[in-house]
Amino acid sequence: MTENRPASAEAAKLKNCDSQRDLLISEMKNVFGDDRRRIDHALAVLSFAETILTVEALDAGGGDPLTVKAAAILHDIGIHEAQRKHGSSAGRFQEIEGPPIARSIMAKLGLDEGTIDHVCRIVGSHHSGRDIDTLEFRIIWDSDWLVNIPEEHAGASHEKLQRLADRVFRTKEGRRLAEKSTWMT
Ligand SMILES: [Fe+2]
Repeated sequence: MTENRPASAEAAKLKNCDSQRDLLISEMKNVFGDDRRRIDHALAVLSFAETILTVEALDAGGGDPLTVKAAAILHDIGIHEAQRKHGSSAGRFQEIEGPPIARSIMAKLGLDEGTIDHVCRIVGSHHSGRDIDTLEFRIIWDSDWLVNIPEEHAGASHEKLQRLADRVFRTKEGRRLAEKSTWMT
């Protein structure tokens, strides 16, 4: 006979988080359309963010999974709008245009207000790193650098990369992943 226990609140939350993750990815793909580069970038940042979250949450405690996943998926969501409105994808324009788009996607999917606000603050600071320093923000910050450094600093010397890594990474696990990455060794 199959045991039919009610799922624990924690298990239900994780399951809900997984389904919202998938819906957020599909909304992100809708916004980016045929811009495969942006889609792949968001998914690569998500992958690092999930890895760092697992370790940091065990280490330091805390770290809201849905906030981390949503922020990773949506962090660059304003890039096309920035190009359209300002003729530039510069970080400061992305930080203006990203949060309203992220907010409308998350509201449509029924995320709670607290999560929406936190994710929007991360999206609105993800280039400058100002105004917010939560664990969830630091995870997105490091994940974005882990994807961007090998693309933007290809061919840089080991010393230069080491100095950059010392300066930018804000989580222990982010720094550890950088140290063992192929671009650093
Ligand atoms: Fe990014």
